Amino acid sequence: MNRLNVNFCGVDFKNPIVPASGTYGYGREYECLYPLSTLGGISVKGTTLHRREGNPAPRVAETPSGMLNSVGLQNGGVDKFLSYELPNLVTKDTRIIANIAGSTIEECAELAAKLKGSAVDMIELNISCPNVKQGGAAFGTDCTIAGQVTKAVKDNSDKPVMVKLSPNVTSITDIAKSVEANGADAVSLINTLLGMRIDINTGRPVLRNNVGGLSGPAVFPVAVRMVWQVANAVNIPVCGMGGVSTWEDAIEIMMAGASLVQVGAAIFADPYAPVKIIDGMQKFCEDNGINNISEIVGTVKPW
Ligand code: DOR
Repeated sequence: MNRLNVNFCGVDFKNPIVPASGTYGYGREYECLYPLSTLGGISVKGTTLHRREGNPAPRVAETPSGMLNSVGLQNGGVDKFLSYELPNLVTKDTRIIANIAGSTIEECAELAAKLKGSAVDMIELNISCPNVKQGGAAFGTDCTIAGQVTKAVKDNSDKPVMVKLSPNVTSITDIAKSVEANGADAVSLINTLLGMRIDINTGRPVLRNNVGGLSGPAVFPVAVRMVWQVANAVNIPVCGMGGVSTWEDAIEIMMAGASLVQVGAAIFADPYAPVKIIDGMQKFCEDNGINNISEIVGTVKPW
């Protein structure tokens, strides 16, 4: 018996595990390893109105604490997504989350409008990319603009809209409350945490962009803290991510308040990570008499 099926914003997922945007492309490189139908869903690479080359290299660096990236939303643009990636994804029997990012509120609205009537199950509005100068960072760090962009996308969409939040803010609960007040159906968090490393031999930052987003186990405690804070501050569902690497991490972030979980950097180390996490969670439910994984959401006990 599958104990992992969840309903998130009215969308049925066969399990709560979703590869995070940007870490899985559109699944093409992974479907030779296992069927994509194993996954709850896929959040596709951040899609913009027009094709983007992204930032100059080096733009990814491994560090002992995790991965730093300053990719800068490289992607083929929304028309290519609709004509080339989506027709392939719809055959995979998994939920499709379209991660979208725009430089202006109007661009985000236009992106949402383009996805209207498509087979996409849900929109993840990325207001938190740390690597683009306009849009992302400002959207995600300003309560008013975060609310305005959320409303513009909702007004132009026929899908549930989940807003992806930044950890690079003073109060993530204020941003979460603002997007909720403006119609967000859910929030997802955390995007990457701004960081920097310097190569002491060259004396230069390891990234051409100087700074970039940190992901991996080092950010997991930050993610658990923020998911817990946001889940207690809003009345919409929370999708948790940030350094989730094992099934134990997935259980933990759900206990903090997440009802859907995204797995990101762990996939680079092990492409089977999402599958192992799903298997581990199913066994955890069986071993502990949990009929459905939703029962553990937000069950962290007070001291
Ligand atoms: O760390 C990130 N990198 N977060 C994003 O939202 C986008 C991505 C990129 O393309 O730079």
